[in-house]
Amino acid sequence: MAKRIVLLNGSPRKNGNTELLANAFIKGAKDSGNTVTSFHVGRMKISGCMDCKYCHSHPGECVQKDDMQEIYNALYRADILVFASPVYWFGMTAHIKSAIDRMYAASYKEMPITSTALLAVYEDTNTDTIKPTISQYKAMIQYLGWKDCGIITQSEVLNKGDIEGKQSLTDAENLGKSIQ
Ligand SMILES: Cc1cc2nc3c(=O)[nH]c(=O)nc-3n(C[C@H](O)[C@H](O)[C@H](O)COP(=O)(O)O)c2cc1C
Repeated sequence: MAKRIVLLNGSPRKNGNTELLANAFIKGAKDSGNTVTSFHVGRMKISGCMDCKYCHSHPGECVQKDDMQEIYNALYRADILVFASPVYWFGMTAHIKSAIDRMYAASYKEMPITSTALLAVYEDTNTDTIKPTISQYKAMIQYLGWKDCGIITQSEVLNKGDIEGKQSLTDAENLGKSIQ
């Protein structure tokens, strides 16, 4: 059965490596009949969580009325959530982390999400660099009771377009296609 997929892209760069990897995933997912709603959180105005606990007394609602509102609406209708991000200082970018922190409010109302995927790109040749990002992703989804459906990473990409021609694009497309 077709799935509703929400993809959060944490790169602030237009046509960057994350976007190319995400686009490959999206193509595959759409080819299999799924719907994909993609958010460029790196270019949206999403403030960090203030820990005001407004969401404790207003389940699913955040006191901050910024661009995160659009994402909340999509999360309450999503089956699968995809985190796509470049590595910035051994983790996901601050942009996507703000959106993740703000999901605190969404966790007080039921999200239909059952599974997730991670797409991540980075410059280093040392693959240890990606480990903290994967660890955080795995810890987060385990806590939320979500199942991992795939992790695609690409090392050695610095400038826009460096990912062109890499196997990870095919892997991301195939991961998208496998969702049905
Ligand atoms: C602020 C900043 C921090 C970064 N930190 C790392 C890092 O810790 N490790 C690494 O391998 N690459 C790091 N990079 C490189 C990016 O991950 C790399 O350029 C990536 O391809 C950018 O993805 P994008 O084209 O989707 O924006 C960093 C880049 C920036 C701008």
